[in-house]
Amino acid sequence: MTVYDIIDAKKNRKELGEEQLRFFVRAVAAGDASDAQIAAFCMAVLLNGMTDEECFLLTDAMAKSGSVPARPPVAGVIADKHSTGGVSDSTTLVLVPVLCSLGVKCAKYSGRGLGHTGGTLDKLESFAGLRVDLTPQQFARQIRTVGGAVAGQTEQTVPADRRMYAVRDVTATIDSIPLIASSVMSKKLASFADVILLDVKYGDGAFMQTAEEAERLARLMVKIGRRAGRNVSAAVTNMDAPLGDAVGCNAEAREAVAVLGGKKNALARLSLFLAEKLLAAAFSLTEEEAARRVAEAVSSGAALEKFAQIVAAQGGDARVVYDPSLLPLAPVKTAVRAERDGVLRVAAKKLGEACLLLGGGRQRAEDAVDHSVGILLQKRAGDRVKKGDVLAEVYSRSGAEEALARVRAAFSYPAAYTPPALVYDYISEV
Ligand code: URA
Repeated sequence: MTVYDIIDAKKNRKELGEEQLRFFVRAVAAGDASDAQIAAFCMAVLLNGMTDEECFLLTDAMAKSGSVPARPPVAGVIADKHSTGGVSDSTTLVLVPVLCSLGVKCAKYSGRGLGHTGGTLDKLESFAGLRVDLTPQQFARQIRTVGGAVAGQTEQTVPADRRMYAVRDVTATIDSIPLIASSVMSKKLASFADVILLDVKYGDGAFMQTAEEAERLARLMVKIGRRAGRNVSAAVTNMDAPLGDAVGCNAEAREAVAVLGGKKNALARLSLFLAEKLLAAAFSLTEEEAARRVAEAVSSGAALEKFAQIVAAQGGDARVVYDPSLLPLAPVKTAVRAERDGVLRVAAKKLGEACLLLGGGRQRAEDAVDHSVGILLQKRAGDRVKKGDVLAEVYSRSGAEEALARVRAAFSYPAAYTPPALVYDYISEV
């Protein structure tokens, strides 16, 4: 068997078997397959698709391509949640402390922002001193002692995905449902979480443009996870407008703290909805009881206190949790105003791109991020606005004309507009 034969078979629409997929993934992880061969394989999959069986076998081989950390010896279930990425999506910063404060252990592996999407690890690094590069031992110890940890997966985890993702990124092969499903699920299966909730986004600011595509991706990932013996479910949620009212690391970290303190917006609604689903799955509770406990975790201050404990355990400045104004915003504040009367429509992707232009995101994985720049929305999608109303405050280091133009372009003013429902579907069985 050769890598060439496997690419040729996929090119000719043949179904690949377990041995072929294992061989290919081993060759990728060991460096025996060239970037050109990985690109050809990924393009063949993108064009010709994969059966669900092939996709499961590819995912399983990828998950086992590196080291899999040992499960810490804790009683009960360990939970994880994963978002396919969007703009102003700080749900992890809210959901993990809520769940940990209610006794659910959380082992949350997160990623960095790329392109117009933000990353949880960058937002956590807003807390001065906080480390996200925990060793597997530190990660496991924190789950035992504090109840939860949020960190990046190590270089040794799923090396096949690391290589394949880097090649896909520069060969226009990201947007393939089987390749996204195997990439996401290989990383989930290479962790030890028992209960996994996927938040699959669709809309302007997401990978998947339509609810139907997102639903297909969600169902495939749930199927892969269930077949691997994990309790996986998925929410399909809208990402036409930014989820919260803040874009940018410090601004989003401040907002997550505000939501843990009781602020109400779409970020709060979705974070608490996901927390309820995970809590109900972890403890076999009714939806009503899960909702009651989640609301209580916020109103009692227990979730906020747990967040401070997690930040401190990872070396961060926990005072910020009680005084988020300690997180600086960049010095030049510019108001962006409504250009006409109408109902506000907000395009998430353009705001994510504006944040990138301000220096608050990264074009390439190795770029540095300015945590202080960002955008604070003063109006939400669906609000009726008048010409001259302040829609957003933009925080920059200097004038940032290009970014401001992108923020202005994110707003439109139709005569009538109703934003789509936040949660399109919830899939717990396939
Ligand atoms: N996120 C991933 O981890 N992989 C993909 O392919 C797309 C989004």
